Formats: sequence, C-alpha cells, structure tokens
Amino acid sequence: MALLNILHFPDSRLRTVAKAVTEFDAELKQLVSDMFETMYEAPGIGLAATQVDRHIRLLVMDVSEARNQPRCLINPEIIESDGEEEMDEGCLSVPGFYEKVRRAEHIRVRAQNQDGEVSEFEAEGIEAVCIQHEMDHLEGKLFVDYLSNLKRNRIRSKLVKQQKQKTG
Ligand code: NI
Repeated sequence: MALLNILHFPDSRLRTVAKAVTEFDAELKQLVSDMFETMYEAPGIGLAATQVDRHIRLLVMDVSEARNQPRCLINPEIIESDGEEEMDEGCLSVPGFYEKVRRAEHIRVRAQNQDGEVSEFEAEGIEAVCIQHEMDHLEGKLFVDYLSNLKRNRIRSKLVKQQKQKTG
C-alpha cells in the first residue's frame, strides 16, 4: 500500500486524455488499492487515475457517509443521461475551492470492475455528480473549466502562489 501524489491545477499533466485499460492484472489491482488509500486519506469522495499521473481510464469513489462503499469504475461510459442539477463541487486537484457546476441529474453507466467484468447501473444525486466529475478527469477536464475565465484565473493564481510558498 502506498499514498500517491495528487497533481494540482494548473499542472498540465491533468490535461492528459486517459487510455482504455486492457490488462486486468496485479499491477492494476495494486494501483486501485493505492488510489483508494490516497482518496480516503485525502479525504475525498472520488479520485481519477489522471490525478495521480496515471493516464488510464480508471476511477475510484465512495460517496457513502460511513465511507464503507468503495467503488472502482474501469473504462466507464455514460450510456444514458437526463435531467439537470447544480451542486457545489470540489476537487482534490483544486484544493480549497468549491463552486456550483451543472450536470445531468440521472445517468446510466456501463463500466468494468478490476477483474474486467462489465456491469451497468443507474446513479443520481451526488453519486451521479461524482461519476461525471471523475470521468471528466479522464478526458483531461476539470470542474474549473465550467467556471468563468475570471473565476478560473483567480483560482489558478491562488493555487500557483500556494505552491510557490510550499516549495520556495
Ligand atoms: Ni476532481
């Protein structure tokens, strides 16, 4: 088990488009388990492989209050979506900032688990928001991309300043 380093906006590696997972091997299972550990430790409700600089289509999440419902989605696809809702979102790659983002309210998802088995399920509320947010990461997209340029630039300069203070 190991804690992984989480990339922070505006790191350009967060803009990488992830590739499909094709090997469901021990290395993948190790990465999944390290990502869960990193997400719970942060703490966060979701983490995409992109955020730990691994550019494959994998995300982990747990939106339960008791933090006892780990879910791992591999090669996820949204096959149906409807409705709209707006929720405050945050992101482990954009620490300390929360902004409203509009997403689909209900989604139907097809994904593989870490053994490669395919399943389909429906999600709504915070679970649907979390899946859409994490799937954006796999496309190199961040929730700040939905905000105005003014807001995004303000967040960028605050984070850059914080990072300089840490390293400098
Ligand atoms: Ni995020």
